[in-house]
Amino acid sequence: MHIVQTRKDLRALVGQWRDAGETIGVVPTMGALHDGHMALVKALDGRVTRRIVTIFVNPIQFNNPKDFQLYPRGVEADAALLAATGKVDVLYNPSEQEMYPPGFASRVMVSGLDSMLCGGDRPGHFDGVATVVSKLFNQTGAQVAAFGEKDYQQLCIIRRLVSDMDIPVDILPVATVREADGLALSSRNRRLSPALRQQAALLPAALNTALAAMQAGQPSAAALADCTTTLQAGGFTVHYLELRAQQTLQPVTQAEPGARLFVAATLGDVRLIDNMPVLVSA
Ligand code: PAF
Repeated sequence: MHIVQTRKDLRALVGQWRDAGETIGVVPTMGALHDGHMALVKALDGRVTRRIVTIFVNPIQFNNPKDFQLYPRGVEADAALLAATGKVDVLYNPSEQEMYPPGFASRVMVSGLDSMLCGGDRPGHFDGVATVVSKLFNQTGAQVAAFGEKDYQQLCIIRRLVSDMDIPVDILPVATVREADGLALSSRNRRLSPALRQQAALLPAALNTALAAMQAGQPSAAALADCTTTLQAGGFTVHYLELRAQQTLQPVTQAEPGARLFVAATLGDVRLIDNMPVLVSA
């Protein structure tokens, strides 16, 4: 596995692969890798002949400097994990200077989808994501890119971006990977103390309970109110808990297939997100 830190070195490798007719897949990450990221790498099996994993903690997608500072980092351990898969050709780990050289002044904005859910309480977050992902697509020349459904709104925004901007990359969605107690894998879970980590399992449990109640006929507003009360009693600060159409992300009141429940909630000082689809109509 090559570890590459500059656009120039990456371009040289990618150029050779392209000339040889290879198909390139990319998994964009911010590091602190876990099995959810490994599932993204594995999802490229059979679709590409070369795999690039990018690790870049993107400062412009953090609206809170403390959150950026505290974001877990560990490139050496990440590199060892990726090398051990035997599947990754390149770990691309550019510096901040390499990604945003002096004078960098552009932003990519996907309007509409970026102002709701996580966009509502993290202003500018998705502009930062769309900007860095556009750059990573250009730099890697990937034909396929894998993104996790845990960041479902991000996935919708990136799909919109590639469609609107005619970027020739296929977006491959990958199902959320969960711990045995249901907690969605996230790099941020590392910041939970052992006690908070145990408490965090309430988040998926409460979502499942709300979905089951809605699917059994409870009006969605009442199920969401009960779920919020449960989470607050369990120590969470709930930023949003909403039922939305999974294609458009518009609010819906009917719990039926095509709808998805979205949550963001903070436990201690760790912000967690999750989402689950409605599988059957009431
Ligand atoms: O999902 C992430 O880890 C990040 O938002 C991404 C897509 C790598 C962009 O920085």
